[in-house]
Amino acid sequence: MPIPAEIEARLSDLRSQLVHHMHLYYELDEPTISDAEFDELMRELQDLELQYPEAVTDDSPSRRVGSASSATFAPVTHRVPMTSLDNAMNAAELEAWGERITRGLEGEAVQFVCELKIDGLAISLRYEGGVLVQAATRGDGRVGEDVTANVLTVAAIPHRLGGPDVPEVIEVRGEIYMPLASFEAMNQRAAQAGEKLFVNPRNSAAGSLRQKDPSITASRELSFWSYQIGEVVGANEFTSHHSTLQVLSQLGFPVNPNIQVLSSLAEVAEFCAHWQDHRHDLAYEIDGCVVKIDDLAQRERLGFTSRAPRWAIAFKFPPEERTTVLRDIMVSIGRTGRATPFAVLEPVFVGGSTVGMATLHNEDQVRVKDVRPGDTVVVRKAGDVIPEVVGPVLALRAPNSQPWQFPKHCSCPLASEFHRPEGESDTRCVEPACPFQRDQRIIYFATRGAMDIEGLGERTVFQLSDAKLISDAADIYTLTVDQLMQLDGFARMSAEKLVSAIQASKSRPLPKLLTALGVKHLGPSAADSLSRSFGTLDAIMHASEADLATTDGVGGVIAASIVGWFAKPDNQGFIERLRAAGVEFGNVVVSRQAQVLAGKAVVVTGSLVGYSREEAEAAIKERGGKSPGSVSAKTFAVVVGADPGASKLAKATDLNIPILDDAAFAYLLETGELPA
Ligand code: IVH
Repeated sequence: MPIPAEIEARLSDLRSQLVHHMHLYYELDEPTISDAEFDELMRELQDLELQYPEAVTDDSPSRRVGSASSATFAPVTHRVPMTSLDNAMNAAELEAWGERITRGLEGEAVQFVCELKIDGLAISLRYEGGVLVQAATRGDGRVGEDVTANVLTVAAIPHRLGGPDVPEVIEVRGEIYMPLASFEAMNQRAAQAGEKLFVNPRNSAAGSLRQKDPSITASRELSFWSYQIGEVVGANEFTSHHSTLQVLSQLGFPVNPNIQVLSSLAEVAEFCAHWQDHRHDLAYEIDGCVVKIDDLAQRERLGFTSRAPRWAIAFKFPPEERTTVLRDIMVSIGRTGRATPFAVLEPVFVGGSTVGMATLHNEDQVRVKDVRPGDTVVVRKAGDVIPEVVGPVLALRAPNSQPWQFPKHCSCPLASEFHRPEGESDTRCVEPACPFQRDQRIIYFATRGAMDIEGLGERTVFQLSDAKLISDAADIYTLTVDQLMQLDGFARMSAEKLVSAIQASKSRPLPKLLTALGVKHLGPSAADSLSRSFGTLDAIMHASEADLATTDGVGGVIAASIVGWFAKPDNQGFIERLRAAGVEFGNVVVSRQAQVLAGKAVVVTGSLVGYSREEAEAAIKERGGKSPGSVSAKTFAVVVGADPGASKLAKATDLNIPILDDAAFAYLLETGELPA
């Protein structure tokens, strides 16, 4: 079949793009696209080559494993080639691989060894007479680079093998990686020194291994998992993969503990799905699972394609990192006047959702990351973590690009000047009349943890404020159904619903009202404690700073802030308008529960049976406990429901903090103790 001209053109375009990106990735350690984008290009090329076999060329990137070696390190020819793996991007592709295996082995039973796909770089370690004589990167699979001097600095890699059964020659293969903690520490040091940040642990590991000075590699705290062998001389013949791993472990190599031998593809799929959900529970990054046929004789029969073994497959997780264009950097104003820069992105699908915006935190963060409007940037959204702009792809930066400057003035109509006090990281708009701050204060007033007014969200507040129907939160109590019906998106029903939600908020308990005022430093737990001690808003308003400061959980800082807030005439006027509107100032629901959790911090994550998150936290507080949002060494226990936050779970495991399920939580509430 003749190859259509447009296919010919696309093939050549794909090939040159892939060659270019392989060079950036393997030789320069400076990729300009994410792994997922690379995989997509490769996929398209492979699919077209499958459709038009006559178009396949010998030098097509689809036939190459990695990239040719650079000139910096001596070349090493692998005696047993280091092949790559084919990918399954979803359960259906995994299933299809399983069917190919069954066909290839004529229906014979198989055992699968399921492993984690460590996001690092492959290395081959050659031991002669039990001594590490050479360490080589994969390179193009046939010829790699000699990085022995650097590998000798990796503590997890044995220099000498012990035991009676050390083979004459053994090549041990595995993944060198950078643990997350080392990566974060390294980036923290880089930020402090004003140096360029590393984009991700994989690139950092690769960069660290290709240092000319091994002492730099040593400082990077790399680690290693072994998962395969190459050439072996003078050893008993291996018959299965799992027993090979056992031997590796006996010889002193680290073998990942999360390996399972399974006998059905359904279990394999379950293994992959489990680790897709729990990838962030680990102290290192993985980008998928690797499934291998256990029996080495069966492997032999299945053999290899031109680039990868048929007896193994990499199940790849959906990408958590993508590149996109940073359209602009804008500044948002919070209710306290804090000016937060944020990235406006070309929308990109990453980590399970489309991301169009991401916070950049503060001026220094933008400077450290040196991201500029127009840059191509790496965007990352890992697990339940909020999206993050990791950094720019410098190779794609426009030559005339200039560093971003924090604006001098608020972009609201008052255009008030921003202030950044010496030694602080936040920039602020200090004009209390700033309409942006005002809107944010109203939005906060209506949120769940405050007056909890359903239907009064950001959009409605902006509409009401634009229509000049409200200028502070007290004004919401004057809103009528007719007024609301004039707004876009409101009909009689929805307007009536909002008005009744607003009216219902008048009888919220005092801690909610106190929180809703938005006094700096005064959070829900101090509000709880003040309400219990003082009973009414008037009592708190008239209390001395000293009396406030001696309340449990309220220190000098909060006390001073409260006194300062009530001293302002504007705020006093606001309070009186709330009173006039009929907002209750003394609705204190006193806890009748025994204070079995006094002094204990219990963190809640995930959804529990019979409790919303708020209700679970309230139940803890009613019993005298605290329920902070994050896990620390002081946490008494972590209550884990369905779909928990992975980072909380990981931290709890790390710190050895008891993890409780629904039943154990019920016991804890009852007794204040952990179940036996
Ligand atoms: S086995 C012939 N097992 O993934 C089989 N590879 O995309 C050789 N990798 O080149 C590889 N974890 O760098 C294998 N448990 C694991 C792995 C793993 C990470 C890497 C390795 C490989 C690449 C293929």
